Amino acid sequence: MPSQVPPDGRLAVFPGSFDPLTNGHVDIVLRSAHLFERIVVAVLVNAEKQPLFSAEERVSMIREVFQEYPNIEVDRFDGLLVDYARAKRASAIVRGLRAVSDFEYEFQMALMNRHLEPTLETVFMMPAEQYTYLSSRLIKEVFRLGGEVRGLVPSVVEDRMRRKASAAR
Ligand code: PNS
Repeated sequence: MPSQVPPDGRLAVFPGSFDPLTNGHVDIVLRSAHLFERIVVAVLVNAEKQPLFSAEERVSMIREVFQEYPNIEVDRFDGLLVDYARAKRASAIVRGLRAVSDFEYEFQMALMNRHLEPTLETVFMMPAEQYTYLSSRLIKEVFRLGGEVRGLVPSVVEDRMRRKASAAR
């Protein structure tokens, strides 16, 4: 059902699994914080059956990363993104586009979300070139196999990944 309360044009939601947050995500959040007055980084609770980090861990790490930015909030959501965005009265969904390979999935999602809530726009943003090859999935794989992830994720995330790995040993 279309929203009754008009959306707040100053607010955008940046949704994702963020398992874990990468420096590419950080780049997109900071860029969008220049365009919108408020950004809500919205962590999907049940993104994967077996995420590396729980939703609580992801939220707390992301909060730590953006603690100095009063216009960047971090929250969690479950269910349909459009329902969450409507409840927040957001006018836009921000998504990062790294390469053409992202396009098809993002295009489908944007149009489905528009079908579900016509007043909500999806805004695509390109990360800085040095982050175009980054993905949470690759970060986890490289780390699991002993590769270096410094510079690819915020240091808070890197520390938590190390702690989790040593706790599992
Ligand atoms: O970081 P991701 O995994 O690419 O983010 C995907 C996300 C969370 C944006 C997408 O899976 C989503 O919005 N999930 C919520 C459920 C939903 O609304 N599904 C319909 C999307 S068209």
